[in-house]
Formats: sequence, C-alpha cells, structure tokens
Amino acid sequence: MLTPGRPVALTLMLPIALSLADCSEQAEPRKLDRARAAIVTQKPQHFDQALAIRDALIEGALEAVRQPARSLAREAVPAGLPEGAAPYVAELRAAAQAVVEARDRGTAARAISGLALACGNCHQGLSAGIELSVSAPPPPEPAPAPHMRRHLWAADRMWEGLVVPSHDAWARGVEVLADAPLHPEALSPAVPNYPRIEALAHRVHSLAEAGETAEDMTDRADIYAGLLATCARCHRLLAE
Ligand code: HEC
Ligand code: HEC
Repeated sequence: MLTPGRPVALTLMLPIALSLADCSEQAEPRKLDRARAAIVTQKPQHFDQALAIRDALIEGALEAVRQPARSLAREAVPAGLPEGAAPYVAELRAAAQAVVEARDRGTAARAISGLALACGNCHQGLSAGIELSVSAPPPPEPAPAPHMRRHLWAADRMWEGLVVPSHDAWARGVEVLADAPLHPEALSPAVPNYPRIEALAHRVHSLAEAGETAEDMTDRADIYAGLLATCARCHRLLAE
C-alpha cells in the first residue's frame, strides 16, 4: 500500500457545535491520524510530504497545505533513483510549487491531483513496478466517524490509482465511495449550513459515479480534485 504509517500531525477539528443524530453527544475533536492509524499499515516512502499535503487539504486547512508543499518543491533527488529520474523530479517539484501558490481550496485540490499525476509519470516512465497490498475497507456503519473512515480508505485507494498508477486501486476506491455517501440524515438539519452540507454529501456520490466510468488519467485526476475539494469544503463548513 502507498500511504505511509507515520503519524499525520494535523488535527481534524470536528465541530463541537455539530449536532449528530444524537444531539446530546458532542463530537470530540478528531484526528485524521487516528482515523488513518485504524486503516493503514504502510511503510514510509520517498516524497512522503505528498500525503501530509493531501491530508491537510482534506481537513480543509489550506494554510497547513503550504509548508509541506514548499518542502516538497525543494526536495533533493532521493538517493537510489534510477538514471533518467531528474526530469521527473523537476516535474514533481513544479507540481509542488503549484500547490504552494494555490490561493483557494479548489485550486489547491487541482494542484494536488497534478502532483499525484507527476508521481505516476515517473513511476511509469522509469517502470518502477510498484506492488500494492491493500487492506479491506473499514466495514460500513451508519455513524459519521466510521463512515468517514471508509471515505478516507476510498480516497487513499484513488490516490494510489493516480500515483502508482493502478487501475485496480482506482476501481476499488470509487466502488467503496459510490456505496458510501454520507447520509445527510446522520446530520441534524439543525446544523448550520445544512443545505450546503447535504449538497456536498451528494457531490461525493456523484463524483464516485463519474469515477466508475473515467478511464483516462486526466479525467481521473479531475475527479480526484473535485473529491478533495468536497472533503475540504464540508469539513470547513462544519467547523464554522
Ligand atoms: C523521479 C521519479 C519518481 C518520482 C517523481 C516519484 N517516484 Fe515513487 N518511485 C520511483 C521509483 C523508481 C520507485 C521504485 C523503486 C523504489 O522503490 O525506490 C518508486 C517507488 C515508490 C513507492 C513504492 C515504495 C515501496 O517501498 O514499495 C511508493 C509508495 C512511491 N514510489 C510513492 C511516490 C509518491 C507518492 C510520489 C509523488 C509524491 C512519488 N513516488 C514520486 C520513482 C519516483
Ligand atoms: C457532507 C459532509 C462531509 C463530506 C463531504 C466529507 N466529510 Fe469527512 N467528516 C464529516 C463529519 C460530519 C465528520 C465528523 C464525524 C464524527 O466526528 O463523528 C467527518 C470526519 C472525518 C474524518 C475523521 C473520522 C474520525 O475517525 O474521527 C475523516 C478521516 C474524514 N472525515 C474524511 C473525509 C474524506 C476523505 C472525505 C472526502 C472523500 C470526507 N471526509 C468528506 C463530514 C463530511
């Protein structure tokens, strides 16, 4: 699998004010790393700031995207890469620089998808032959937190779909996402911004459906960008 097991330092602060189905319970601040620890057992890898960048955007924290993107844009060529790697490293750095310069979440989401494509270009160009071993998705449960862990699992597989690139990983990710829309009824309509939140939940589902038929890497990257922006917008709205 691709996602490294190292902790992601960012906290996904979920809205204390958010009324879940059981209004007597307040949502505790959540950590993306805790969710990730539950679903991922992967070894660290080169260019692994890419995951921190992506997870910061999922959280909705545009400011937290920039620092690791800046460091990726300046990263030295990792030791041990085959000959012919330099142009791909340059492409990766340029993609990371576009993330640094993104001024809004939608632009950042597209730039991060572009970054994943740059990873995939080098792997393909140098015939890296990456093997994936994928764990089973977390079981479906209606409560928001486990539901979100399925979203994260799916988003990880789709990321691998672009980064490796792997058709199977992509297909598994969109399949799980398509059957895992966040039932907006799990959120109380009393939540501020409810109509917008509901629309974002539906958007996740329609992006997953589009992902099921997208064959082209550019189309997949567009869908992934749409997805990242949707995760980010909903988490942001909930935190308002
Ligand atoms: C300059 C070329 C190049 C770029 C750019 C690149 N990689 Fe790689 N990557 C390789 C090569 C070559 C291998 C296979 C040899 C190896 O494992 O080092 C590889 C292997 C991997 C592996 C498998 C490692 C393992 O231990 O099994 C992962 C995961 C990975 N890359 C992730 C990424 C991600 C994520 C990015 C983008 C942020 C990226 N790579 C960008 C060249 C690249
Ligand atoms: C429609 C709104 C909405 C969208 C879209 C959304 N989320 Fe969430 N997310 C939530 C809510 C609500 C919670 C809080 C769940 C809780 O604390 O019980 C949450 C929490 C999380 C968590 C923390 C779970 C935990 O274990 O505490 C992760 C991880 C997560 N979301 C990932 C994602 C990913 C990845 C996407 C995009 C593919 C996404 N979310 C899209 C509403 C959304």
